[in-house]
Amino acid sequence: MDLLQANRANAVTETTVAKWLKAAKSVAVLTGAGISAESGIPTFRGPGGVWKTYRAEELATPQGFARDSKLVWEWYDWRRSVIAEAQPNAGHLALAEIERRVPGFTLVTQNVDGLHDRAGSRNILRVHGDIWTVRCTVCDRERRDLRPRIESLPPFCSCGAMERPGVVWFGEGLPEDVWERAVVATKAADLFFVIGTSAVVHPAAGLVHLAKASGAKVVEINVDKTPVSATVDISWRASAAEALPALLVDRGL
Ligand code: OAD
Repeated sequence: MDLLQANRANAVTETTVAKWLKAAKSVAVLTGAGISAESGIPTFRGPGGVWKTYRAEELATPQGFARDSKLVWEWYDWRRSVIAEAQPNAGHLALAEIERRVPGFTLVTQNVDGLHDRAGSRNILRVHGDIWTVRCTVCDRERRDLRPRIESLPPFCSCGAMERPGVVWFGEGLPEDVWERAVVATKAADLFFVIGTSAVVHPAAGLVHLAKASGAKVVEINVDKTPVSATVDISWRASAAEALPALLVDRGL
């Protein structure tokens, strides 16, 4: 395909997805690290991905935390400081605007960075937790902790036990109520977006197949091909910060 053909194909994709969005009564979205890439937060996989430099088994599993909780906390503390410096990008902002425009909207995110909240999204289901929440390892009490750096690591709960980051690690279940709501929203959606995720981590990635099986039109927005690219109705090879704002352009549809 030459450049002109590619531009034409992109324009057709944009118009088709914009039409579907305009007609949709219920939209569900699954986002992953790719939507925050243009805010300067590294993704997990692919070139420059976090799991290329760091070992997930050491830093993102209950076993890793049991082995060296200080190391795990230092890593999360570093990530908090990176995220604190970042700003929501045009992709996050466009999703918040889409939420204001469509009757039913649910944003299911695997991201723990809080950028969707800061962009103004409201109905957010954080299936992998939230880096700005800490939870007691014994009494389960949760609290918000917005400090970009926690001075004394690891932090402790008022009950005296050690706290942990309020995120979901490999080998752990997702928060049940949150997951159930994600499933309900996916089944109800007539349009489903899967954005900036490698779609290899389950059960989150399974929502794409559930959406398709439930009759939704499914649109992927990703700079690369993924395992779900062949399943979706449209696999739009574009960056989230470029594609999502393009859907808000008034085409007189
Ligand atoms: P990954 O790092 O696995 O995938 C990021 C995806 O975003 C890739 O498919 C990229 O091609 C795509 N991408 C990169 N930049 C993009 C951009 N500007 N616009 C659109 N797409 C872009 O991240 P996730 O799929 O979110 O879990 O990873 C899923 C889970 O694995 C995470 O929640 C985390 C991780 O380990 C836990 O820590 C439990």
